[in-house]
Amino acid sequence: MRILFVCLGNICRSPTAHGVFRDIARREAPGLVTEVDSAGTADYHVGEPPDPRTCRVAARRGYDLSDLRARQVESPDFERFDLLLAMDRANLQALRQLAPPTHRGRVQLFLEYAGHATLSEVPDPYYGDEAGFIQVLDLAEEASRRLVARLRDQGRLRAD
Ligand code: 4NP
Repeated sequence: MRILFVCLGNICRSPTAHGVFRDIARREAPGLVTEVDSAGTADYHVGEPPDPRTCRVAARRGYDLSDLRARQVESPDFERFDLLLAMDRANLQALRQLAPPTHRGRVQLFLEYAGHATLSEVPDPYYGDEAGFIQVLDLAEEASRRLVARLRDQGRLRAD
């Protein structure tokens, strides 16, 4: 199972989901996910590390995002990843337009696919205060736990 998290800039929401999900998947279901990555639909921040506010709130809960660098979604991603999980509807639309028609089903909303109880989009925290970044982290943790459980139920554990 290979999963790509996608937002606009790849410096706030998708790196948070990337860093949180890889730790939770490794801990709760080793072998389930063979590759985790993140990317942006825009190219504004290509090559940059995650936003310092993203790194700070993640580090307080033990997630290290320091190895991540922003990149833009590219066409091979639709072949390479089994699931491309968008943070909001604008990015979902952008991805579905880029996706080959046969692979559009791989593009889903992160919170919806994970079965979040109330929200379907992760709000963009970029122009707001720290509370927005904490909300992104809370949503990433809750949705990642649910997503790991869902994938496990689907029986996608590797034989080893
Ligand atoms: P992200 O947040 O999509 O969660 O990485 C944003 C980052 C940068 C910008 C907008 C949103 N920007 O306009 O530069």
